[in-house]
Amino acid sequence: MVTKSVPPVTLVIFGATGDLTRRLLVPAIINLTRSGLVGDDLTVVGVGIDEGDDEFLRQRLDEFLGHLSPQAEAQTTRDDAWDRLRSRISYRSGDFTKDEIYEAIKLRLGSAANIAFCLAVPPSLFGPIVEKLATHGLMEETDGCFRRVAIEKPYGTDLASARALDTQILAQVVEKQVYRLDHFLGKETVQNLMTARFANMIIEGLWSNNYIDHVQITAAETVDVGSRGKFYDATGALRDMIPNHLFQLLAMIAMEPPNSFDAEAVRNEKGKVLKALRVYSMEEAAANSVRGTYGTGNIDGQPLSAYRETKDVSSDSRTETYVALKLYADTWRWAGVPFYLRTGKALTARDTEIVITFNKVPFAQFRESEVTRHLPPNRLVIQVQPDEGISMEISIKRSGQSVETVPVSLDFRYADRFDIGHTTGYESLIYDLFIGDQTLFQRADSIEAGWAAVQPFLDAWSADNTIPETYVPGSMGPASADDLIRKDGREWHELGVVLHQRR
Ligand code: BG6
Repeated sequence: MVTKSVPPVTLVIFGATGDLTRRLLVPAIINLTRSGLVGDDLTVVGVGIDEGDDEFLRQRLDEFLGHLSPQAEAQTTRDDAWDRLRSRISYRSGDFTKDEIYEAIKLRLGSAANIAFCLAVPPSLFGPIVEKLATHGLMEETDGCFRRVAIEKPYGTDLASARALDTQILAQVVEKQVYRLDHFLGKETVQNLMTARFANMIIEGLWSNNYIDHVQITAAETVDVGSRGKFYDATGALRDMIPNHLFQLLAMIAMEPPNSFDAEAVRNEKGKVLKALRVYSMEEAAANSVRGTYGTGNIDGQPLSAYRETKDVSSDSRTETYVALKLYADTWRWAGVPFYLRTGKALTARDTEIVITFNKVPFAQFRESEVTRHLPPNRLVIQVQPDEGISMEISIKRSGQSVETVPVSLDFRYADRFDIGHTTGYESLIYDLFIGDQTLFQRADSIEAGWAAVQPFLDAWSADNTIPETYVPGSMGPASADDLIRKDGREWHELGVVLHQRR
């Protein structure tokens, strides 16, 4: 596909002094500037609560970029991309709930034509900011110019609040102006899922309950909750990761082939499969889920206090830091195929992966052989991070005179073939926001469908007085998560065994 050029645009970032802006947004803009995908006609206006002038924000960013990891810093500062961008960054400070800041932004924007707003702020401010932008005429698209708003996650905290937020926002702007971010969709391997499926008959031809036994989707992290206690204790692993990141992966795996790669065609198919996720009763939700919280222990030789002892977390918190679910997508293609999802903090490895396990062969001619009695099913392992790649596990004949099968892995690693460099994952998302491509952004109906599928778990857990099961930091999670999958005669894929070690 031809790379579209970005028109002159002003990016207004709410929350300009926050962590997201300096860690992900600004480095992504620098990378885009370096690669030439955005030109020197991009202007950035930062908006924040802290008082200060343009130089205040620039210096803050200087300091942060100076403290990046050596790898990231080398990439960010090795040329003049940051210097060129720096002078085009300005800053306005004020209270996001008051009219004054919007007047100041308007004055600063002057006759700017194309404007993209990015809300890197707490979720309670999403609705109020969009209302104020619209009231001050900042969302009006005139003379063929665009006004777009990119909104971070979490988009709502349950089905009712997500719907209320959509009602509030869509009363001010139209859907085509709204870009709901899910940074997982910016990851290269996630975007590759569509190519892997729809450019390869060998994969797509086998992609149904005729050949697939079950699917596992995992996002395991070694990091603990750290300084995010306030946000996390009100959120938990389920809300933080499942209806957004993991459901986006599930949708990419389970969607029907779209008629084209147009945003609406792709989003229609993703929406359809998310709407087909079985909505459990509360009893079914309780039976098909496991919650855990990490206890005291060690990670990588470093002592870690239990989640409930984390700053800003209540000592009798019932918030989960781990969740495992068994779900079904009730469509013809996926009828009877369980989707096992799990995510958690303070686990043994950072490992985001999708594992497709195929049905066993119907009849083992090699039944005389010892190995064959345990003939493993074929597996397709899509490693999203780290060590991005795809591997296919198959059985072959061991060399020699006897007929003996051995499992081997056919591996492709991104790093072996491409210079994947140090990107933040936000590059594609910002670029698409500028060119007006909503493919990698979530549409209101998909978000609501996601919340509808997780709502029974939220309801079941809030009605249940028990606390989540404790697991040991650095482990694979709570023991009951193993039971959840073992009672179906299956096993979780081992965490942290990166592709080249699986050979
Ligand atoms: C964020 C969650 O959306 O995604 C975090 O709020 C989580 O809790 C993060 O750590 C994981 O993203 P990544 O890209 O590091 O896998």
